[in-house]
Parts: sequence; C-alpha cells; structure tokens
Amino acid sequence: MVDAKAVFDDGAAYERFMGRWSRAAGAEFLDWLAPPPGAEWLDVGCGTGAFTELVAGSCSPAGLIGVDPFAEQIEYARGLPVARLADFKVADALKLPFSDRSFDVVASALVINFLPNRPRGLAEMRRVAKPGGLVAGYVWDFAGGRGTGGPLMKALRAIGIDPPTIPGTNDSSIEALQSLFTGAGLQDVEAHAIEIAPVYRDFDEFWTSQTPAITPIGKFIGALTEPQRLRLRSSVMSTLSSNPDGSITYTARANAIKARVPG
Ligand SMILES: C[S@@+](CC[C@H](N)C(=O)[O-])C[C@H]1O[C@@H](n2cnc3c(N)ncnc32)[C@H](O)[C@@H]1O
Repeated sequence: MVDAKAVFDDGAAYERFMGRWSRAAGAEFLDWLAPPPGAEWLDVGCGTGAFTELVAGSCSPAGLIGVDPFAEQIEYARGLPVARLADFKVADALKLPFSDRSFDVVASALVINFLPNRPRGLAEMRRVAKPGGLVAGYVWDFAGGRGTGGPLMKALRAIGIDPPTIPGTNDSSIEALQSLFTGAGLQDVEAHAIEIAPVYRDFDEFWTSQTPAITPIGKFIGALTEPQRLRLRSSVMSTLSSNPDGSITYTARANAIKARVPG
C-alpha cells in the first residue's frame, strides 16, 4: 500500500512529480465545471496549491480558501503568489473547520480516493456548501489502470512483480464516484472523463520524470534489483508507443464529477 503521507508531506518534491499533470487536468476540469464568477470557493486537499492557482487565474472567485492536512504542503502554498488572494489552512476533509452553507463551490482535485472515509468527506463537502451550490472533484482513474503511473504498474505486472496499491483505487471509477455523490444526497450528478496526454522528449525523459525516488512508486522501483529494474525499463518501453520523432506520449485519464446541493 502506498503511504500517502510519504508523498504529500514534501511540497516541493510533490510539485516536481505531479505539477504538470495536475495543472492540465485541473484546467480541463474547470472548463467542464463552468463555475459562476464571483463565487466563494473551497479547495479541499489543496496540496501545493496547483489547483487553487488555476481557480484564482480562471474563475474570478470572490473568496478562495485551500485546506490540506499536511502543514508542509500548506507552507509551500502560502509561499505562492496566489496566497495574496487565497487563504491556506491546515485542515482535514473529514472535519472541515467551516460553518454550514459557507461556499458556492466546494471542489477537490485528485483527493477523493485518498480520503480514509469517503462518505464522511462528501458529507462534509456538502455541509459547507450553500444550497444550490456546486460540489465537485476529479481523481485519476486508478481503477481503470489509467493513472499517471499506469505504464509502470502494467509493466511491473508483466514482469511478475505486484505493484504497490494506490489507496481508494476501487472508488476512482466514474460509477463509484456517482454512487458516492448520490449517496451524499447531492442532485444533478454529472460525470466526465478527462484525458491528459503530455509529450516526453524521449523515453529517458519519461522514465526519469515518472520514477523519482521521492514517490512511493519511485522508491519501490529503486528497491528492485538491477536486473529487475532493467527488465522493468524495457517492459515499460514496449508498452509505450513512440512517435516518429522519438517522443513519447502517454494518455492518463481522470474521472470528474459534479453535483448540486439541493436548494
Ligand atoms: C494528489 S494530491 C492533489 C493536490 C492538489 N489538489 C493538486 O491538484 O495538485 C492529494 C492531496 O490530498 C491531500 N489529502 C490526503 N488526505 C486528505 C484528507 N484527509 N483531507 C484533505 N486532504 C487530504 C494530500 O495532502 C494531498 O495534498
């Protein structure tokens, strides 16, 4: 099992690993969400503030608060230019430190699967959203093997090694998210798949950026024997199609969901 704290308690390291994936997914999610301008926003599980920055840059919020339980992430976010507009607080999604009906939009980017009690997290998101407000989020499609580490997981299995399990994998499908949001008493539930396909200059760039020693998968791969690592590398290479110019594209998928609080 992946230790979530080990990945999320180092803001700068997380930013290097996930920043560009999460920004691309976040931008597409916000286009689809089509939130009203001038809204009061809560970003649940804001991490290093990548999604908070997108909200500030494209949604004209009247107010914006980001919360995350890991103080190191919040410290990192407080150092960003967006901190002039957004307030960042250390808080857990399972116990949000806000009054009922405080926000017009409560959104959570790449977080819901990591919550240890997802129905409770959703109940909290609904509680702090105003009647008629939006509750929404997106997660990588780990259930479909389409997370950013999909090629590594697939290749590990292909060479007979069980990959580490990502928390909440089974609840990352569109069906599971729909059932979670419906179960929280939300209405007008809509889901949408987001495809993100960054281009890597060559296989080496893909390999180095996706196996840094700071991540659980990177540590897992680092602990393999040298022959295992070489087999893994060539197995990953064979699962990824290379473009005519030698560049590599891998398309990850995020499952997005949005709903309204009954009015
Ligand atoms: C993959 S990161 C996403 C960060 C950010 N939203 C983004 O889009 O880049 C997952 C985040 O979930 C946060 N998280 C984990 N457990 C949480 C909880 N119980 N309540 C709130 N956030 C949590 C982690 O600290 C981490 O910042």
